[in-house]
Amino acid sequence: MTKTYRIAPSILSADFARLGEEVKNVIAAGADWVHFDVMDNHYVPNLTFGPMICQALKPHAKKPDGTPVPIDVHLMIQPVDALAAAFADAGADLISFHPDASGHVHRSIQAIKAKGCQAGLVFNPAEPLDVLDWVIDDIDLVLIMSVNPGFGGQSFIDSALRKTEAVRKRIEATGRDIRLEVDGGIKADNIRRVADAGADTFVAGSAIFGKPDYKSVIDAMRAALTGSK
Ligand code: DX5
Ligand code: ZN
Repeated sequence: MTKTYRIAPSILSADFARLGEEVKNVIAAGADWVHFDVMDNHYVPNLTFGPMICQALKPHAKKPDGTPVPIDVHLMIQPVDALAAAFADAGADLISFHPDASGHVHRSIQAIKAKGCQAGLVFNPAEPLDVLDWVIDDIDLVLIMSVNPGFGGQSFIDSALRKTEAVRKRIEATGRDIRLEVDGGIKADNIRRVADAGADTFVAGSAIFGKPDYKSVIDAMRAALTGSK
């Protein structure tokens, strides 16, 4: 099976004073998706940005030739549904939420899809996958956290690899095209291990925005993914 790998830079580590430019630059450097980390100082101990910022950035989320680049919204908020709808209206393409933050997971998924967005479920490092037994046929994306949510720049938690393998098996069993994304502590030197565990989409914040040349980091990640080592 040939996989299309996607690199989704997290603008959590971008320069917030120049967000539009940062989005444009990281897309020009080769980003496939723009990962948008929404934190509410309640579900996680940090506070970032809301739907108005998403709406403001939407016109910048396109390649130099005008092709739109998907906005991948990762909601770390509780409750989920009202803000998910607001992000859909603000131009989000994919919206993922943590099942433990929603009282009615199936309803939240349906509400996101009813808005025309793709829906994803996010699993914290210590969160079991049981909910997938009941809703995997309804979702478009699974996002495995390889750090505890709330902050960029943390170290990769190795048990996320086992969890990624387990999710890959579940996805294969459905026969559906469900993206498997991993988020947290991913760098050019460990991305290959994450891919080998079954991931096809990779979030990276500090690894990309922490370096002056975004393209060289993204190129190194892609080389690690496609290289024959
Ligand atoms: C953490 C966020 C991640 C984070 C990744 O709550 O969901 O997307 O920004 O940042 P790095 O790549 O620096 O671990
Ligand atoms: Zn994230």
